Amino acid sequence: MAASQKLYAALFHVLLLSLFPLKAKSSARTQAEALVQWRDTLSSSPPPLTSWSRSNLHNLCTWTAVSCNLTSRTVSGINLSSLNITGTLARFNFTPFTDLTRFDIQNNSVSGTIPSAIGSLSKLTYLALAGNKLSGELPLSLSKLSKLTDMGLSENSLSGKISPTLIANWTELTSLQVQNNLFSGNIPPEIGKLTRLQYLSLFNNNFSGSIPPEIGKLEGVIKSRPFKKPAFRPAPTNTVGSHKASNP
Ligand SMILES: *[C@@H]1O[C@H](CO)[C@@H](O)[C@H](O)[C@H]1NC(C)=O
Ligand SMILES: *[C@@H]1O[C@H](CO)[C@@H](O)[C@H](O)[C@H]1NC(C)=O
Ligand SMILES: *[C@@H]1O[C@H](CO)[C@@H](O)[C@H](O)[C@H]1NC(C)=O
Ligand SMILES: *[C@@H]1O[C@H](CO)[C@@H](O)[C@H](O)[C@H]1NC(C)=O
Ligand SMILES: *[C@@H]1O[C@H](CO)[C@@H](O)[C@H](O)[C@H]1NC(C)=O
Ligand SMILES: *[C@@H]1O[C@H](CO)[C@@H](O)[C@H](O)[C@H]1NC(C)=O
Repeated sequence: MAASQKLYAALFHVLLLSLFPLKAKSSARTQAEALVQWRDTLSSSPPPLTSWSRSNLHNLCTWTAVSCNLTSRTVSGINLSSLNITGTLARFNFTPFTDLTRFDIQNNSVSGTIPSAIGSLSKLTYLALAGNKLSGELPLSLSKLSKLTDMGLSENSLSGKISPTLIANWTELTSLQVQNNLFSGNIPPEIGKLTRLQYLSLFNNNFSGSIPPEIGKLEGVIKSRPFKKPAFRPAPTNTVGSHKASNP
């Protein structure tokens, strides 16, 4: 009796311990499956993404454009910039990517709207969607990305207001670039509260009203004028079309 109880206890212990690596493995697998599923929705899937394959699910961390957190063995970065991708983000399942800190799809032909589900990337610090064909309004769920330091939305066809609620939660933001879109409404004065901001680019949109004085007061921030219309520059880089507005 006592011996079999001990055996059960030992077995139970082994079971419990084995649950942990299993959990990590299964979330990596879910992420790999989510990537393959999305890749299959693209109308043109670039050759470098052939490593994204159902027969290769267990090698996720070696996949093209994917980088992993070496502790958790889950995806921490996805960099698909300049891969000539045509498609939408509508069927990108963001939910499994709980460790994702960088998502870069800039300079492609991604169209459609920015899905609300992107707000589930709670660890995201770097979001680069610039240089695509994205349209529609910014989903309010983006306000949940409170760790964002870099937000690049320039050179798209995004429209609607930039809600103060969004800006208010982006307290870590160092770079905000929305130039060359169709954003309208007032420029939110809340931008003036982003104390870490270093780059701000608003030009070539459909904003109305004047530049809020709160933004004028931001010191040492490289700003571009929202109402001037500089030459269109397709290459999104940190300082495109900006000029040093003030020297502290
Ligand atoms: C990697 O993942 C671990 C466990 O989830 C986490 O504690 C750590 O901060 C992550 N490292 C990086 C560099 O994100
Ligand atoms: C993605 O790759 C491009 C080209 O190699 C690089 O310029 C960019 O900084 C990378 N993005 C991230 C988030 O690492
Ligand atoms: C954009 O991507 C194309 C490939 O689709 C590449 O030839 C071009 O150099 C990229 N431009 C920038 C600014 O990265
Ligand atoms: C980008 O993909 C399209 C097909 O979707 C193709 O016609 C074009 O040549 C590609 N451009 C580059 C630079 O690879
Ligand atoms: C702001 O971010 C926090 C997480 O830091 C989140 O709990 C909260 O819901 C966010 N606020 C909005 C309006 O999304
Ligand atoms: C720009 O804003 C004005 C109102 O300020 C509006 O009538 C017009 O339709 C907008 N244009 C675009 C392209 O959004």
